[in-house]
Amino acid sequence: MREVFGNVHLGYVVVETERFADWRRFGRDAIGMHLDDSLADILRFRLDDNECRFLLRRGPGEDVAALGWELDDHDTFDEVIARVTAHGVPITEGTTEEADIRGVERLVRFPGPNGLAQEIFTRARPAAAPLQMANRGGFVTGESGLGHVALTTKKPHQVRGYYNTVFDARLTDYIDETISGLKFKIRFLRVNQRHHSIAIAAVNRLPLNPIRTRVQHVNVQVAELDDMTASYQRVKELGFDMALAVGQNTNDKELSYYAVTPSGFEWEVGWNPIVVDDEAEKTWLPTTYQGISIWGHTPEGQSIVDRLAQFRAGAQSLLRREDNVPALAGAGIGDN
Ligand SMILES: [Fe+2]
Repeated sequence: MREVFGNVHLGYVVVETERFADWRRFGRDAIGMHLDDSLADILRFRLDDNECRFLLRRGPGEDVAALGWELDDHDTFDEVIARVTAHGVPITEGTTEEADIRGVERLVRFPGPNGLAQEIFTRARPAAAPLQMANRGGFVTGESGLGHVALTTKKPHQVRGYYNTVFDARLTDYIDETISGLKFKIRFLRVNQRHHSIAIAAVNRLPLNPIRTRVQHVNVQVAELDDMTASYQRVKELGFDMALAVGQNTNDKELSYYAVTPSGFEWEVGWNPIVVDDEAEKTWLPTTYQGISIWGHTPEGQSIVDRLAQFRAGAQSLLRREDNVPALAGAGIGDN
């Protein structure tokens, strides 16, 4: 079996929303991305030369619908397809139109954890139009991919098993954190030099998922600190909700804040996380950190109503079935 670790990069995120006007303001005016609204009923944001890093399509979900993973070459692409189909999970070939609006060449889709579709592609097409964004210093993408996503689940061992089977994901580290009186364990997985492309959070020993959306937050990384602070101010000035003020993460040392998107999941803008490069990879050992933040990240504006809504979602989640594609999750991977 051919190893695919290192040849996998988070390429784009697909969001289903009806709130195009708010997203336009959030993505372009607050976060500072390049807005492309040249297609009917589709909004796209760019961070770099790639034609599409965020694809917003109309729908009632107000949630992330799919993750798109860039694979470096056709051998890696064929290897991932072989793994998925060998486990009896069907793949769907993307249509020419679907590939076009994502700005990619080869596109295939298959089911992922908790209803979050996974798409793989080779070769992102460079956009024709010059980049125009408020974020002047640019975003850090390239080898590390667009950033990361954090998922919440009732079955973290299955989600780990899934990403291990499909992409050879490696455990970078853990964080234990108490939020609203509940003890969470977060597992950070990498598929390339980025410290993590996927974070998997779960409430310890309770089959509970307090987050309505499939993704708790999406992260993008700015190249310059000034762009992080300027976008923080724009988020507030434009009246979008802030979830957590500026602070620093314990494990990857990233400086960041968390805003609330028009769809309700959070959006982290970060600067300067450590990378697990080839040298660090040789001796890397996963450790456990206590708490997500060294300093800062104080909650802003979370009202009692929000908290109650969260507990309601948590209670409802006890009854909701969570399908993590057990064929690809295998027996799951426990925490060591
Ligand atoms: Fe994050």
